[in-house]
Amino acid sequence: MYSLSQKLADIIHHDHQLLPILNRFGIRLGFGDQSANDVCKSLDINAEFFIEILNTYHDPDYFPRERFLDFPLPLIVEYLKKTHLYYYTFYIPEIENQLNTLIASAPGANNLSLLTRFYLKFKQELHEHLEYEDKFTFPYVLNLHTLYLQGSAITNPELLPVRSIIEFEEEHSDVDSKLLDFKNIIIKYLQADYDDNKCNTLITTLFNFEDDLRDHSRIEDKIMVPKVLQIEKLLFPS
Ligand SMILES: [Fe+2]
Ligand SMILES: [Fe+2]
Repeated sequence: MYSLSQKLADIIHHDHQLLPILNRFGIRLGFGDQSANDVCKSLDINAEFFIEILNTYHDPDYFPRERFLDFPLPLIVEYLKKTHLYYYTFYIPEIENQLNTLIASAPGANNLSLLTRFYLKFKQELHEHLEYEDKFTFPYVLNLHTLYLQGSAITNPELLPVRSIIEFEEEHSDVDSKLLDFKNIIIKYLQADYDDNKCNTLITTLFNFEDDLRDHSRIEDKIMVPKVLQIEKLLFPS
């Protein structure tokens, strides 16, 4: 586990996969020998939240649920939104580029159109999921949090017409299964005179993306949703 007193540079030398997480918090390279805590302080980042996110990403078996439940919802939602943005601006275009490069590397008869078909199915499922959360789930969570801070039970249904996060937050299994299908089409059924290295690059990106998505969904399902359910119990008199 990493701690806030460690140099951030040492942490990155140890696990460079954490770099995108740093970016989501607005941390860019060039932090010299500063500790993780000092870097957070200079950028006005909640250091405790930062280190817990870093550790859960670094070690899939580490998930301090109770600890996370202490952090305010807007902080959690902001992190989730930034993660979506990273998927839109980096992972999705990157996967698409790598897929196109792989296809271009394999002339002649092949079944690469299958890959495109499975990729598009996955992309559509993912887009729908992310957009729905950005448009409906997150605004609901933030609204609810604001009303919670005002501290009174909600009896006027116009204030918040939908009364449960359960109606918003769909299961992540559809996205996961479409990604698995896409990976399997490549790993098990690829028939083409393709470039090995280009194919390995794409598969590595897909596995990294899968890890990122798993971590993201876990924060939504195990932290955001239970926190919202707690607040709903307080705010909506049954
Ligand atoms: Fe999400
Ligand atoms: Fe989600």
